[in-house]
Amino acid sequence: MAQIIGGLATSHIPAIGNAIAKGKQQEPYWKPFFDGFPPIHAWLRQVQPEVVVVFYNDHGLNFFLDKLPAFAIGAAAEYHHADEGWGIPTTAPLAGCPELSWHLVEQLTAAEFDLTVCQEMRVDHACTIPFQLFWPDQHPAPVRIVPIHINTVQFPLPSAQRVYALGRAVGRAVGCWADARRVVVMGSGGLSHQLEGERAGFINKRFDLQFLQSMETNPQWATQYSDRELVERAGTQGVELLMWLAMRAALTEAGSGVRLVHRHYHIPISNTATGVIALEAVP
Ligand code: DHB
Ligand code: FE
Repeated sequence: MAQIIGGLATSHIPAIGNAIAKGKQQEPYWKPFFDGFPPIHAWLRQVQPEVVVVFYNDHGLNFFLDKLPAFAIGAAAEYHHADEGWGIPTTAPLAGCPELSWHLVEQLTAAEFDLTVCQEMRVDHACTIPFQLFWPDQHPAPVRIVPIHINTVQFPLPSAQRVYALGRAVGRAVGCWADARRVVVMGSGGLSHQLEGERAGFINKRFDLQFLQSMETNPQWATQYSDRELVERAGTQGVELLMWLAMRAALTEAGSGVRLVHRHYHIPISNTATGVIALEAVP
């Protein structure tokens, strides 16, 4: 059977793509952000994941407001990035893992999660940037991926409780995949940020640090909040932290607990409070 060996989560910001393209990692503005990653690179070199299930929120590249599923899963052999209008370079396609995608579709549907199945799916910065950050020396990253989109763009959003339940169902499904590959679950988004309106630039460090701590010691903590309460605390785009919650919920099905590999918090990059975490599943 397959094994979830750990979880990764990071903020995604288009400007990071530009910083990487221009080699700005050591510049004073960027260094405190990129410094969060080397201990995680060392862990990834050691554990060598082969497949990544990535929870991310599309921002209008693949889905738009006219048709926007709450949950969707990719079942493609390859996932292409494209110009999203942020001015960032288009990255190389990421390799898919259709055999795990279809196993997840079967298992999740049986568990009463009816995801939109996408045999073609273009992936935006929320999916591509984390792979550039976690595998900086390999482009594209040397893993196969299954992307799972969770709507955080158009309200009402799936509740934190529902997202947590989806994450657990994904964890259980990976655990019964008749394949020996090493799987990592990943969440892309957050932490607190708001890009528009009167509260543009809103950041809530106290809430972010509580949330980060909950990833280690109290994974269900954020499920106490409704979508509107999350917006109040984390900002209209800070609700992307739901991706971290799905990742962490999947890990609860992977073993008896988690070991913190590394976590890092830095504010701000662009308009966003950035966080990154790596957790190893304890069998
Ligand atoms: C920014 C943050 C995001 O989550 C995003 O999707 C786009 C931009 C930002 O802070 O610039
Ligand atoms: Fe975003």
